[in-house]
Amino acid sequence: MTETPAPVHPPLVPALADRGALAMSEEQLRDWGLRFGRATHAPLLGTVSGELGAGKTTLVQAICTGYGVTEAVTSPTFALAHEYSAPRSPVHHLDLYRLERPDQLEELGWDELLTSRAVVLVEWPERAGDRLTGGHVTLSLQHLPGDPDRRLLYAGWHA
Ligand SMILES: Nc1ncnc2c1ncn2[C@@H]1O[C@H](COP(=O)(O)OP(=O)(O)O)[C@@H](O)[C@H]1O
Ligand SMILES: [Mg+2]
Repeated sequence: MTETPAPVHPPLVPALADRGALAMSEEQLRDWGLRFGRATHAPLLGTVSGELGAGKTTLVQAICTGYGVTEAVTSPTFALAHEYSAPRSPVHHLDLYRLERPDQLEELGWDELLTSRAVVLVEWPERAGDRLTGGHVTLSLQHLPGDPDRRLLYAGWHA
């Protein structure tokens, strides 16, 4: 059996995530994202999954702020990708909701992104199909039935 190499980062997922799934208010989610961003080092690929309105962009905004992005982070719904600068590395925020086929990722410079020393955060990663390689942090948000103000956050590592 081959051992999975450990990620080259110090711990990326703050202690709060040890419990696996947490119901969080928007303020708590932003605070978690800030701390995650501060603890993050490039290169990092992170996927952010969840339905429309689950809070993916809200979480990405907080991670970017924690990482040191000072520009306003807006949803790349139409452009599919936005790039920001931060002191430690560039940050790429992708929203693949409108991607029609995984091969369109080439136009976005996907392969370069995955091998660059950058932080890459991807909403709707399912759209990338098998272009999405292992070795990334998985963040997932879910609505809570009957509680419109809180979301379940799952954080993990996809080897
Ligand atoms: N606990 C929560 N966490 C994140 N967003 C929340 C929460 N409660 C309410 N919201 C609201 O839900 C919406 C999430 O929008 P957004 O982050 O754009 O979602 P997505 O990118 O997943 O489509 C925002 O309007 C936000 O104010
Ligand atoms: Mg979004």
